[in-house]
Amino acid sequence: MNILILFGGVSSEHDISRLSTASVLNNINKEKYDITTVGITKKGEWYYTEASAEEISDGSWEKNPSNKPAVISPDRLTHGLIIEEADGTITKKYIDVVHPVMHGQNAEDGTIQGILQIAGIPFVGPGVAASAAGMDKAITKAMVNQNGTVNQADTFVSLKNIYEVDKAAEMARINEYFGGKYPLFVKPANAGSSVGISKVKTAEDLEQGLDKAFAVDTKLLVEETIVGREIEVAVLGNDDPKASVIGEIFAANEFYDFDAKYTNAESRTAIVTDLPKEKEDEVRNAAITVYKVMGCKGLSRVDFFLQDDGKVVFNEINTLPGFTSISMYPQLWGATGIPYDQLIDRLIELALDNKDNSKFSL
Ligand SMILES: Nc1ncnc2c1ncn2[C@@H]1O[C@H](COP(=O)(O)OP(=O)(O)OP(=O)(O)O)[C@@H](O)[C@H]1O
Ligand SMILES: [Mg+2]
Repeated sequence: MNILILFGGVSSEHDISRLSTASVLNNINKEKYDITTVGITKKGEWYYTEASAEEISDGSWEKNPSNKPAVISPDRLTHGLIIEEADGTITKKYIDVVHPVMHGQNAEDGTIQGILQIAGIPFVGPGVAASAAGMDKAITKAMVNQNGTVNQADTFVSLKNIYEVDKAAEMARINEYFGGKYPLFVKPANAGSSVGISKVKTAEDLEQGLDKAFAVDTKLLVEETIVGREIEVAVLGNDDPKASVIGEIFAANEFYDFDAKYTNAESRTAIVTDLPKEKEDEVRNAAITVYKVMGCKGLSRVDFFLQDDGKVVFNEINTLPGFTSISMYPQLWGATGIPYDQLIDRLIELALDNKDNSKFSL
């Protein structure tokens, strides 16, 4: 079976994608699959590459002599790659399944999924609509809200083209909405890795928080602050998805900001073992509900807060979660009894079984 691993990309999570890809390459069963790798640089150039996992991980893959320009053909008869050889001739390579090991914008947001759908190639992870909706926190909120059974933070959605007409009026609306209560969380609708997020402690700091989030997106969410433990569930499956054991984040900083996620070594994660079974089931069922409501297939990581009073509050969904060997998603499945290599097998099977995918095939 020919598996194409797509990595990198133009998002702010390019580097994380390279680390995730190195882990996938180090763990995937090479007897079972014929692996092809295509990297997308930060500038958006696509290259077929034979670089090693280490070279992909450290970024030196971009200079690998094996690199050749390559693209996924939208033509369903090609069902794979068009590769440009050194002498200018073209070769084609049939691909059975694509595993996009990419995160963030132009990767996790339905755009790559759109190319693959047009190309008629089964792929790992949710389809176009679920990926696009899951990337946009305001759309996610609205969809989950329609289900009516999952708690979420009280939220005000602000648009840049409304804010910029009259900043003071928009801030007054926000203050009125929350009854003057602080702290508030301000976050871009479409970002990741906590980029552009701030905890705004007083009305005086609101403008700064809004400007920071509007610097990276044209839509933002202002949320009430939820006080509680940060917990995450890995979900796997198509029409009958299963939820993993629960993981917990212990952020080294005041909240799980960019530094706490990627730089501060004092942040850590653990498997939650102290909750009563009913509470665990409640969290896992909420994760599956969110997954189904969002129309996810394949995989997603669903993140919650757990308040002291036991209330479970949904925070966000990640449709192509981090996949390094220390990332929460594979760790949670490892603790649930599916080791990393078998998890990749399962994701490939799910891509092939996905009815949304098979409807594309010829
Ligand atoms: N309403 C809230 N109340 C309390 N803390 C919050 C709230 N919203 C976000 N946070 C904190 O900010 C962090 C980042 O927020 P969030 O998970 O929504 O953004 P993200 O950048 O999309 O993260 P990811 O990289 O997981 O996609 C959370 O992990 C949490 O620590
Ligand atoms: Mg998050």
